[in-house]
Amino acid sequence: MNVRGQHFRTIWPKAGDERVVQLIDQRFLPHRFVVEDVTTAAEMATAIRDMHVRGAGLIGAAAGYGMYLAVVKGTDLAAAAELLKAMRPTAVNLAWAVDRQIRALSQAVTPEEKILIARTTATEIADEDAEHCRLIGLHGLELIQQIAARKQGRRVNVLTHCNAGWLAFVDHGSATAPIYAAHDEGLAVHVWVDETRPRNQGSKLTAWELGEHGVAHTIIADNTGGHLMQRGEVDLVIVGTDRTTYTGDVANKIGTYLKALAAKDNDVPFYVALPSSSFDWTMRDGLAEIPIEERGAEEVKHADGWADGREVEVRVTPESSAAANYGFDVTPRRLVTGLITERGICEANEESILALFPERVVGRRGDTPVAGLQSCA
Ligand code: MRU
Repeated sequence: MNVRGQHFRTIWPKAGDERVVQLIDQRFLPHRFVVEDVTTAAEMATAIRDMHVRGAGLIGAAAGYGMYLAVVKGTDLAAAAELLKAMRPTAVNLAWAVDRQIRALSQAVTPEEKILIARTTATEIADEDAEHCRLIGLHGLELIQQIAARKQGRRVNVLTHCNAGWLAFVDHGSATAPIYAAHDEGLAVHVWVDETRPRNQGSKLTAWELGEHGVAHTIIADNTGGHLMQRGEVDLVIVGTDRTTYTGDVANKIGTYLKALAAKDNDVPFYVALPSSSFDWTMRDGLAEIPIEERGAEEVKHADGWADGREVEVRVTPESSAAANYGFDVTPRRLVTGLITERGICEANEESILALFPERVVGRRGDTPVAGLQSCA
């Protein structure tokens, strides 16, 4: 997507020096646009843990490049894999990308082959992520077109939570891809952007990228969505996901579940957009099985922003109060209208998901695989 008219991805090998990976350091947005050079798997692990990069697809791509850097530097691959995987628990793309590198690298014999395979695999992961998001945009566009036709040209109001935009992926985004596609088609689309405390991925990142692309949007406090839905001000909710079970339970940024409840109560369609790399083909019960990241209390107790030409951070709570910081929640499949994937839109249930991805065998730890399906890597 474009930043000040120039095309950027969120992560890329440095031109002229392929031993370096460059990424947009999101900690400074929307105030400053900073590109970071990463040269080792350990630095990439830090970038993931400390959220220089974040969002399911980008975490996966970063892990793919992290494994590439481990190969380039001759780092022990098992140790690098373990380190990278341990950085954030909820986004399934992280382990998925590391395991894909490990599988690909098992074919290499010489050090030169290893570097070539690791670079090719990292590039494939990144390119696939961008392409899948582009396709999600085309499928999701149909939903927005249908609503626009019903509203006879009046603007379509989409509500989104957190940042499942291009900054959360390599390009295009998942939840935002249909919005960009609709905007580019000339449809009148407006986005309600949940601020998404405590880290404000909505008010900082989603608002910034929508603004850069010229999409009309309004930032709202996190608790506003239900009120807007009651007033008929939301036509559609589209969110992303960090991990969705093959049965359709959706883990996403904390607060998503409350939006899904409000949407159900107000008959507002609630869609989840995801590339297939965000499905967990081993988990059946999202509430019981998806690991939920807990982060430091200081993120809740503090707020940061821009004042007098610099970043500032302030405490907004009593110093001695305890704070809890759950990063994600799980929206049960019964609250999800549909899943927008690179292969099309399906219902949030096992049958419908596996009809789109028939090559998948599901189940684990003794679960019975779905009859007639072939195993796939
Ligand atoms: O903690 P983050 O910022 O890495 O959280 C991930 C997210 O951005 C959201 O949960 C998003 O909606 C889904 S990831 C595309």
